Amino acid sequence: MENHHHQHDPAAESDWAAMAELLDLDADVLHSYLSEVTAWVYERAAELPRRRILDLGSGTGTGALALVQRFAEADVIALDKSAQLLARGQAKARELGVEDRIRTVQADLDAAWPVIEPVDLVWASSSLHHMADPDRVLTEVFTAINPGGLLAVAEMDSFPRFLPDDVGPGLEARLQAALAEARADELPHLYSDWGPRLSAAGFTVEARRTFDIDLTAPLPALAGRYAQASLTRLRSGLDGRLSPADLATLGPLLDGDGPGSVLRRDDLTVRTARTAWAARRP
Ligand SMILES: C[S@@+](CC[C@H](N)C(=O)[O-])C[C@H]1O[C@@H](n2cnc3c(N)ncnc32)[C@H](O)[C@@H]1O
Repeated sequence: MENHHHQHDPAAESDWAAMAELLDLDADVLHSYLSEVTAWVYERAAELPRRRILDLGSGTGTGALALVQRFAEADVIALDKSAQLLARGQAKARELGVEDRIRTVQADLDAAWPVIEPVDLVWASSSLHHMADPDRVLTEVFTAINPGGLLAVAEMDSFPRFLPDDVGPGLEARLQAALAEARADELPHLYSDWGPRLSAAGFTVEARRTFDIDLTAPLPALAGRYAQASLTRLRSGLDGRLSPADLATLGPLLDGDGPGSVLRRDDLTVRTARTAWAARRP
C-alpha cells in the first residue's frame, strides 16, 4: 500500500478492493500493535472530554473501529477520499453494532478541508504521507482540533520483511532499495520524521514511541495472505525498477497458492516498526 500513490491512475482507483483487503489484513495480523498503539493514545488523551474523534485517511476504518471501542463515550468521524473504502468501514461498523457512533465523510484533503465540527482527538495512520502537501493539512488539522486536543500520527518506519535472506538471495533487500528509489520520486513524505513538521504546524509534540513488530512462526492465520498482498502491491508499485531475475523469483512466490507460493511457506516473518507521535494543540 505504501508505494501506491498515483493521483490520477485509473488502475489505482479500480484496485480499491485489493487495497481494502490489504488494510484489513494489516489490522488483523498486526492486531497486537493496533491494540497497543490505541491504548497509548488513550493514555495520552485521558484528560480530554472524549467527545469527538476524527480518523484522518481512515481507509477501511480499522483505526476508527479500534478507537470507538477504546473510547467508550466518543463518536468517530471517518474521513477518506475513497467512497468504497468508507463503505467497507461502515459495513464493519454495522456488524459490530457501532454504526450509530461512526460517521463517514468523503473528502480529498489535497483539494480542500471539509466542513466538520471541531474534534478532540485526531488519529492519522499511514495517511499523511499520501498527501500532496502534508504540512498544509497539518495546519488545517490544528485548526480543526479544540485547544488542548490531541493529534496522534502513526506511520511505518519501513516496509515489512517477510522472507528469509536466502530467497533470491537478498531479494527483499533489493525490494527495499527499489522502494527507497521509487519513494524519492513518488512518495517523498514516506518515512518522514513528523516531529518537526508537527511543531511547525503549531503542535506541542508530547511523546514519540516506536513499536517494534517481530512476528515469527507460529504466525497468525492470515499472515501468508498479508505477505502476499503486501508484496503484490509493492511489485506493482515498483514497475520497471526490478530486475528480470527478481521478477522471476517473485512470480511463483506471489502466484495464488501454487507450489512456490508464500501461502505455503512455514518460514515467513513479519518484521517491521511503526512510530507514533502524540501532538497537542496548546
Ligand atoms: C495506507 S491507507 C491507511 C488507512 C488507515 N488509516 C489504516 O491505517 O489502515 C491511506 C489512506 O489515506 C487515504 N488518502 C490518501 N490521500 C488522501 C487525500 N488526499 N484525502 C483523503 N484521504 C486520502 C487513502 O484513500 C487511504 O485510505
